[in-house]
Amino acid sequence: MLTLSRLTKRYAKGDAALTDVSLEVPAGQVVGLIGPSGAGKSTLIRCVNRLVEPTSGAVRLGALDVTALSRSGLRKARRRMGMIFQEYALVERLSVMENVLSGRLGYVGFWRAFLRRFPQADVDRAFAVLERVGLLDHVDKRADELSGGQRQRVGIARALVQEPDLLLVDEPTASLDPKTSRQIMRLIVEVCAERQLAAIVNIHDVALAQMFVERIVGLKAGRIVFDGPPDTLDAAALTAIYGEEDWSRTIRDADDADEGPDEADEEAPRAPRPAALGARAL
Ligand SMILES: Nc1ncnc2c1ncn2[C@@H]1O[C@H](COP(=O)(O)OP(=O)(O)OP(=O)(O)O)[C@@H](O)[C@H]1O
Ligand SMILES: [Mg+2]
Repeated sequence: MLTLSRLTKRYAKGDAALTDVSLEVPAGQVVGLIGPSGAGKSTLIRCVNRLVEPTSGAVRLGALDVTALSRSGLRKARRRMGMIFQEYALVERLSVMENVLSGRLGYVGFWRAFLRRFPQADVDRAFAVLERVGLLDHVDKRADELSGGQRQRVGIARALVQEPDLLLVDEPTASLDPKTSRQIMRLIVEVCAERQLAAIVNIHDVALAQMFVERIVGLKAGRIVFDGPPDTLDAAALTAIYGEEDWSRTIRDADDADEGPDEADEEAPRAPRPAALGARAL
């Protein structure tokens, strides 16, 4: 369980990027975080692992108070938080395997890793996650030889090899075509269900979020203004998040709400929705 309590972030210049954000994400749940550019989505994700230092409020992962940790405590805690980025953040000249093994850096120690001496158990773990993301045939390729979708699979594998409890995902599909975007979202949701990972996925594509996640949180100007299941995200909710617009072509038609993705052989897994999770228009 990830718990954010009254999280607030004020950068040195400008208004608060996050104000009093409170959120609980249970193990296995994927939250789609939507909101206009500048709403604070990336700031929220980065406050969770303290890449950005919150101004006030608390982040807890299980019983661990992440916001109270010292530097070395934080290093350990970050092993439990896998991060996946839009721009993949791969090392171009390294192989797929080496990029994935870099996810074990938090365990192995810098010099050992620098000398590329990863324990056999880590190599075995890397093979297992590469198989899971469908990249076993590409382990020796250099990162710069891969397609965008393959690169994102490496990013996912690198996060998974950490054996995290939590995934923090910032616009994973922003550079991908529509079909590849669906495949990547499906993969993220599936691995979270399999491994009981909590996840926050920042995403601009509202329809894609509705298709795959069980819960959507809408941020506007640093505050949560919507929190509920995808089929309750109607035009009024979108207006609350993004402002006035004709939303009829953006949101999934209510009639389609139970159909999921259109490829019958690639159904998105839909975790049962917690009964307690009602829509909260805030
Ligand atoms: N390092 C920084 N220093 C100062 N202000 C920042 C910094 N990073 C972000 N901000 C500001 O904080 C606010 C939230 O930014 P953030 O990047 O979290 O938004 P976002 O929702 O991720 O936007 P986008 O959808 O464009 O990625 C914006 O007003 C932004 O200008
Ligand atoms: Mg962002």
